[in-house]
Amino acid sequence: MNLKKVVFPVAGLGSRFLPVTKAIPKEMLPIIDKPLIQYAVEEAIEAGFDELIFITGNTKKAITEHFDDKPNLNISNLTEDKKNFLAEMYRIIPDHVSCKYIIQEEPLGLGHAILQAKEAVDGSPFAVVLADDLIDSKKGVLKQMLDQYNDEDSSIVSVQKINKAESVNYGIIDFKKGSADLIEIENIIEKPLPENAPSNFGVVGRYIFCNSIFSLLEKISAGVGNEIQLTDAIKLLLNTKPVFGYEFTGTRFDCGSKLGMIKANIRFAFKNVTYKDELKKFLQKCIKNE
Ligand code: UTP
Repeated sequence: MNLKKVVFPVAGLGSRFLPVTKAIPKEMLPIIDKPLIQYAVEEAIEAGFDELIFITGNTKKAITEHFDDKPNLNISNLTEDKKNFLAEMYRIIPDHVSCKYIIQEEPLGLGHAILQAKEAVDGSPFAVVLADDLIDSKKGVLKQMLDQYNDEDSSIVSVQKINKAESVNYGIIDFKKGSADLIEIENIIEKPLPENAPSNFGVVGRYIFCNSIFSLLEKISAGVGNEIQLTDAIKLLLNTKPVFGYEFTGTRFDCGSKLGMIKANIRFAFKNVTYKDELKKFLQKCIKNE
């Protein structure tokens, strides 16, 4: 299957995290010691993707420098050990994987960001990962989706059950019951009010698209929030090609929100034996003194 390219839109304003996102993209914010975008990139590489396409905005430098494997190590007082350590830590992208950076001149919406990748994707199907949806799972979600994927003409979006009261934060799907793992989507609505939400399945930031999505992204105009919405292009895609929902296995953290970011940091710290016990004591103390 010709599925090697993955697009990472990282050009959003990140306004919920201002002022920290004034000079760095929110995808560079860390969970312990690794930025969100690195978790996303590692998930994609583990799933076998080897052409990484970043859609960056005016904070491009932070992302390109993070993945640059040839940083300047000509620092006069570095010991050989330290030099080797730094060289190892700085090398994130394996040799067989390529990176391309494309600028989205204005943050006109997620759909618009993905459209900027059209030329680089060059006619093939492709995946999209939103790094601010961090998912803790044994098998990466992209890999889980690839295991389901067998038709270049169809698309798969990852979904999770949500609390209907929170439907205004999601694209919500309406669907036919399908095979055990894939559900055939019949309709999709961006950020509906709970009373208008057709189900309690919300779309999460992992997608595999057939190439036709680009011509639809070109057609649509601004939707909810005055942004070019990916959801509106998916809705058009449903008229001509099958689009499936896949309920992934794993715990998702909405790291586009501050609370989600805090929870993710706690969860990942708990997974680390170095911090676990001390953190537990500290949190118990916090709860007692509430
Ligand atoms: P979000 O809506 O969560 O990101 O977009 P945002 O707009 O940066 O966040 P707030 O609401 O202002 O805090 C989902 C993903 O799409 C990217 C974002 O970087 C994020 O990964 N995106 C969004 C773009 O690349 N370009 C855009 O124009 C909009």
